[in-house]
Amino acid sequence: MTVRQSRIDGIRAMITVSDLHFAYPSGKSALSGIDLHIEKGEFAAIVGHNGSGKSTLARIIAGIEKPARGSCAVNGIDTRDKSRFIELRKTAGIVFQNPENQIVFEKVHDDMAFALRNLGLEQDEIDRRIGEVMKTMNIEHFTNSFELSMGQKQRAAIAGVLAMQCRCIVFDEPTAMLDPKGKKDIHGIIVDLHKKGFTIVYVTNVIDEVLSADRILILDSGRIRHEFKRGELLENVEALKSFSLEMPLIMDIIVRLKDRNVNIDTSARTVDDLVNSLINLPAANGHYKAAR
Ligand SMILES: Nc1ncnc2c1ncn2[C@@H]1O[C@H](COP(=O)(O)OP(=O)(O)O)[C@@H](O)[C@H]1O
Ligand SMILES: [Mg+2]
Repeated sequence: MTVRQSRIDGIRAMITVSDLHFAYPSGKSALSGIDLHIEKGEFAAIVGHNGSGKSTLARIIAGIEKPARGSCAVNGIDTRDKSRFIELRKTAGIVFQNPENQIVFEKVHDDMAFALRNLGLEQDEIDRRIGEVMKTMNIEHFTNSFELSMGQKQRAAIAGVLAMQCRCIVFDEPTAMLDPKGKKDIHGIIVDLHKKGFTIVYVTNVIDEVLSADRILILDSGRIRHEFKRGELLENVEALKSFSLEMPLIMDIIVRLKDRNVNIDTSARTVDDLVNSLINLPAANGHYKAAR
């Protein structure tokens, strides 16, 4: 790589992880040799079984855990650099699986204010930011955290990260504890944040949740074993199976229709896409043309 190219990559990169190793004090190795490059504005999904190291990697990116060997940088900030800790906090936020773990104070406002005060902001700025973010996230009516549904608590947690003005947000199985409505709501928010230019790292063991990601990386036993881009899902069905990952339902249907010689649009990623693709098939292809 030329010096110029490496400089361009440096400008584009939001997350750069090199030869990252991490073990817990018990001696248990959680990550062993991760190399990862996530661009600004990218939506990267990290998929893997329980125990594959997803949460450990998420916490390292957010600066909660430090690499034992190798490095992790977010927007050029080395996560081990104590002198840039506040800067890192303002850059990379994390949303956990259980939103209740993030709640310290009873009032939603106080929780957000606490995090902002830790960034060293003045009260006026804290109030301004909270007011703004509560409005844009449509949570002005949220007062007592403990009276909210799990989905609403997660919405408030995301609002807290937005108030910190983080441009990179790591989601660690953010919908795992939510009901279907909550899952849909949070998923919609994340897709929207990606459209607005945020860098999204979405950790999950349910591949169905990340079909709109730009890139899917498979983590297994502390290593990234495989990766592919959004449009390459069909070609990677066998790879998913080889890691015993559940095939996305939509892909399962597409593969089965293809096996039955239906000339289906394989880029469909939602039920709506699939239905539209089916009703638009020429009548000669079968009985799929919708009566109008
Ligand atoms: N606090 C901890 N102490 C010791 N071992 C841990 C701790 N947290 C996770 N581990 C171990 O590290 C490995 C990776 O865990 P984790 O990053 O939580 O995986 P995932 O999020 O993919 O389920 C697992 O083997 C797990 O048992
Ligand atoms: Mg986890």
